[in-house]
Amino acid sequence: MIVYLGARDAERGRAAARDLNARAGADVRFVRLDVTEEAQIAAAVRRVDEECGRLDVLVNNAGVVVEWGVPVQEVTTEQLRRVFDVNVFGAAAMTRACVPLLRRSTAGQVVNLSSPLGSLSLLSDPDDPVSTRGLLAYSSSKAALNAITVLYANALRDDSICVNAANPGLVATDLNAPSQFGRGVRTAEQGAEVPVALALMGADGPTGAFCGDNDSSVDATVPW
Ligand SMILES: NC(=O)c1ccc[n+]([C@@H]2O[C@H](COP(=O)([O-])OP(=O)(O)OC[C@H]3O[C@@H](n4cnc5c(N)ncnc54)[C@H](OP(=O)(O)O)[C@@H]3O)[C@@H](O)[C@H]2O)c1
Repeated sequence: MIVYLGARDAERGRAAARDLNARAGADVRFVRLDVTEEAQIAAAVRRVDEECGRLDVLVNNAGVVVEWGVPVQEVTTEQLRRVFDVNVFGAAAMTRACVPLLRRSTAGQVVNLSSPLGSLSLLSDPDDPVSTRGLLAYSSSKAALNAITVLYANALRDDSICVNAANPGLVATDLNAPSQFGRGVRTAEQGAEVPVALALMGADGPTGAFCGDNDSSVDATVPW
């Protein structure tokens, strides 16, 4: 596959693409992309259209947490907006912009990076550690992303485009470096296994599902 690697910072994005291209057979192309900027989304989609004429897979990976250590009742509207801007509006804007190109694929796939922290079932289960995390903006943004996943899955089923949410497991990344609950234990490579498995599914793969667990099993599902 030709992979377009979206990043806000051109220097870091180019360096990441260079590292990946050092692997045999890789064709990774950096594209400047802030998912909160409609003009950058449009430019990225135009470039994929011009160079490839279609898109087989969209991975909505961009995500932020801004409220580590902030009690639920103290999270501000501004913090909610910052998180929803990226985690919800960014993913929806990217999907909307990419649908015309995904329709030209024989088996289009949209993979939304979600989290058990967005599961209403787990948040409302007092025996599950998820219910104690209290990340108001992040959890509610991932719950909204889950709803968006199911709505797009329903809307695009007849176009043979599958839309799924992926749980990468607890991965040690920049995202949870400031976490008071401890960092993830998985590597980025392990965290990528479920999203990549979904990305490579054919048209007969799942749609409207929330897949993945800490063993990288794409067959395991997270309750909504
Ligand atoms: N780590 C976990 O345990 C875990 C668990 C469940 C789900 N997830 C989800 O997995 C996804 C990846 O997270 P991660 O753990 O790899 O965190 P990360 O290392 O912080 O990566 C998040 C990425 O999102 C990018 N980003 C933030 N705002 C953006 C914007 N406006 N436009 C474009 N890109 C933007 C960041 O770019 P910059 O480098 O420019 O900031 C960063 O590369 C997220 O959606 C996260 O919610 C992670």
